[in-house]
Amino acid sequence: MSWITNLFKSSLPADFFTGACDIHSHLLPGVDDGFPSKEKTLEALELLKKQGISKVKMTPHFMKDYPENTRENIEKAFKEFCEEAKGRPMPQLSLGGEYMLDSAFPQRVEEGLLTLNKEFKMVLCETSYMMMEQGAKEMLYDVMLKGYQPIIAHPERYNYASMSHYKRWKEKDYLFQLNLLSLAGAYGKPAKEKALHLLNEGMYEYIGSDLHRLTNVKEMVSSIKLSKKEIDSLFLLLENNKRLG
Ligand SMILES: [Fe+2]
Repeated sequence: MSWITNLFKSSLPADFFTGACDIHSHLLPGVDDGFPSKEKTLEALELLKKQGISKVKMTPHFMKDYPENTRENIEKAFKEFCEEAKGRPMPQLSLGGEYMLDSAFPQRVEEGLLTLNKEFKMVLCETSYMMMEQGAKEMLYDVMLKGYQPIIAHPERYNYASMSHYKRWKEKDYLFQLNLLSLAGAYGKPAKEKALHLLNEGMYEYIGSDLHRLTNVKEMVSSIKLSKKEIDSLFLLLENNKRLG
């Protein structure tokens, strides 16, 4: 971004996170590559509360790399965490999942997927960054036929995906969730450029942190510089998040 372009861009407003609902996080401790301990999670939740975030959905990874992450085990871990965290300052918590479209997915569907919204059965799905695994396209389509509404997590992060992929997904009515930190370049320049393009094309419906740890988050958020139109678009995504409940 040239300095001239930068002149017309600004940071996120101070009240950006006030009342926000984060729909994608790896805060459930010790179950995936996210937060490793209850203490670290509590520290992060307290900070999110201070930032004004009112709701957080914990969305641990469900994938073949974590075979022990069955619905039953994750629900148990969530319940235990909530019990232990009772009375601590934190946003309101709920449980969802981030489902990798891999060979473990059919089994997870069989158990019933953890959704972001009960009424519309919205389910957060991801693919590997390098390529779609064999059968992933069909899995997405089948899950929709079973009455779920797929939300594609961070489409900007998929190296293999071009605009034609995004358009095909949109034609199938899959929804898109932006990772806020993609706009800070946290996943590299191509992901940042794609995120800005998709945002300006109005292709996202939701926004999330995909928080795995606290390192550098504050600095990254403050480094985000956007046009007024882009910031307005982010506020619309936050409104959609709230409607998920
Ligand atoms: Fe994630």
